[in-house]
Amino acid sequence: MPLDDSDPEKWHMKEHTEVKHRILRKYLTTWTRIVSSANPEVHYFDGFAGRARYEDGEPGSPLLAIDVADRNGDVFDTFHCTFNDYDFDNYEILKDETDKKVKGCENENKIKHTCFNEKFEEIALPVLESDAYSDLPSMVFIDPFGYSGTPFNIISKIMNIQESGNEVFFNFMVDKIRRFLNDNEKAETITRAFGSDDWKDIRQYSDRKKQEEEILKLYVSQLKSDADVEYVFPFQMKHPDKDVTLYYLIHATNHFKGFKVMKDVMFNEGDDDNFAYLGSDHYGYEDEQTNLFEATASEDIRVKELRERLLDVYDGSTVTFGDLLKYTYRRTDLVEPHCRSALETLETKDKIRVDRGDSDRGFKEEYEIEFKPQNQRLTDFS
Ligand SMILES: C[S@@+](CC[C@H](N)C(=O)[O-])C[C@H]1O[C@@H](n2cnc3c(N)ncnc32)[C@H](O)[C@@H]1O
Repeated sequence: MPLDDSDPEKWHMKEHTEVKHRILRKYLTTWTRIVSSANPEVHYFDGFAGRARYEDGEPGSPLLAIDVADRNGDVFDTFHCTFNDYDFDNYEILKDETDKKVKGCENENKIKHTCFNEKFEEIALPVLESDAYSDLPSMVFIDPFGYSGTPFNIISKIMNIQESGNEVFFNFMVDKIRRFLNDNEKAETITRAFGSDDWKDIRQYSDRKKQEEEILKLYVSQLKSDADVEYVFPFQMKHPDKDVTLYYLIHATNHFKGFKVMKDVMFNEGDDDNFAYLGSDHYGYEDEQTNLFEATASEDIRVKELRERLLDVYDGSTVTFGDLLKYTYRRTDLVEPHCRSALETLETKDKIRVDRGDSDRGFKEEYEIEFKPQNQRLTDFS
């Protein structure tokens, strides 16, 4: 018999949960600081908030979010938190723990929290579309045990409530979907989760990894095309001992800055064997050339490939460092230090000219970089 959602067995902190929380904490901290600079009030919505504290005393996502708010109280006027959990026992503990936590905060008067005991699919839009929140940027954390409580049309509407204001960080239970691909009783729920029945094509594959890959690909593509989300970034959470995916963490945003921060956070978390930073094969970067960037290739080789790519793409043109960062993040599986390192070498080799104004070193987003025309280059790098 399946365990109740409030069964203590389900509330032991696992290593992958720690990683998930670390990513959430790091991202939420930077998100709060960036978003607050333009909006004095921000909103964190935890749709599957759980009971706020694990059996071993470790904080759950709601306490972690309140802690982030308290530590960054200097940057906003009000940090609104909405916590929701459908299980009544979990909800009671959630309420108690979050009340206590906020009371103990240095910035107690700036942190406003509300708890609900509803189904996510029934409470998400009424809260996020309400007058209180519809104008605020909301970071929505969706962390279910399964896939039945997260219909695609709700996720899509969340991403489209305001013009590109909301973000979603979603624990996408790919393996649970995969196991029920051929169970006709689950078909309707799976169709609701994808917002389409295209997933039925995946039944033709028998290989587990291929099924998983296709499920992720379809979901990412639904977010991009149906929900019109500009940046969708997945992170694979693997089983610590077996070669099995537990779930994917998927970040969806319409802001380049948000995408960049999450890619940086995930890149830095991806060094352990138990979870992964997904490279070009999975992300669906915006052109075929991306496949040059084999995730297994050494860092030096990948930076060298980036240098050559930049030289080809920007031959004879002048762009800003910000443009080159966007190119690196959108079209390769590399990040800012790789871009800087590629440009430093190009400058040393006199392939580019950097207009730094009065400054003589480094790269800032607004600096203009001239790529000297190809025919002025004597040889390629070897
Ligand atoms: C993975 S746990 C949440 C863990 C929590 N986010 C954390 O990181 O500490 C999933 C929670 O979803 C709740 N739940 C299950 N179905 C739900 C639904 N339809 N709507 C809202 N909550 C639900 C369960 O009671 C459980 O507490």
